[in-house]
Amino acid sequence: MIVKVNDLVPGETRPLDEIDVTNLSEEEFWSTYVCKHRPLVIRGGIKHWAACEKWQEPQYLQSISNSVNGSVRYRRAFNSNPVPPITQKMELREALNALIETPHDKTFAIPGMNLPKRWKEDIGNYPFLQSRIKRKPIFYQLNRLFLFRNASTDWHTHPADETICSQIVGSKKVSMFRCTDKNWDKYAPYIEKNIHHMSLDESYFPDKSDLIKFEGVLQEGDSLYIPPFWWHALDSNDTEFGINLARCFRSPLSRVGDFNEPVLKDLRKYTSIRQQIWVDSLIILSSLNRKFKGETW
Ligand SMILES: [Fe+2]
Repeated sequence: MIVKVNDLVPGETRPLDEIDVTNLSEEEFWSTYVCKHRPLVIRGGIKHWAACEKWQEPQYLQSISNSVNGSVRYRRAFNSNPVPPITQKMELREALNALIETPHDKTFAIPGMNLPKRWKEDIGNYPFLQSRIKRKPIFYQLNRLFLFRNASTDWHTHPADETICSQIVGSKKVSMFRCTDKNWDKYAPYIEKNIHHMSLDESYFPDKSDLIKFEGVLQEGDSLYIPPFWWHALDSNDTEFGINLARCFRSPLSRVGDFNEPVLKDLRKYTSIRQQIWVDSLIILSSLNRKFKGETW
């Protein structure tokens, strides 16, 4: 069975903002999108990468995997959230073969693997984020590579860091929404407990959803800017094998956090006192920075 997740949460759908990479300057991307946490599809954002052409070919991928030592995690199921405790491992070249040979009506996923050194040679730059892409993330690893066939990624948020998700092979349909303090309790606890997967899911959500879900399709060569605190989910848009790369960078100080942000309030339930002190310190710095600039959360 192929599990799709985007439509499991009710809401009014609207198209995600999108712009062709040739019309997007670094300054505009930073000030209009990153500093305001507005998601964006950047058409052709990475189409100049060698990977976009070379990685379409399974034999090429196998050839650059032969020299890679070490195993990768894989599963024959969608990328659920939370991640299941048992994940199987095999050598990358074996996992790649298994992915390519997976029938079109089955699921296979290699979730969030490191970018092997040889693969890195086919990765280029981000024209809309030339220098700031080097800002080291504080929570997530720099690069996470996802290889999949029919493997949706279930609804989740990032509590920190900015993410550029680039589609190198295949196509994905993305859906995103942001909860406020006012509607968090109507949606988030049900999604966190996976109640949206139950057949009676609609009975648990409000009769008339007040969520606005922003959606779009990522094609090969496109990038998606995913700000922290936004709920997002991705479905495969075809049954071919696909590859995307999540690249993270540190948020501007003004967008690190706020004491009224529901994602951070929720996070506090699961963190130690020591971690809370660290998070609270960052939130205070971020709030002071906004106050100094006259910005609101
Ligand atoms: Fe994500």
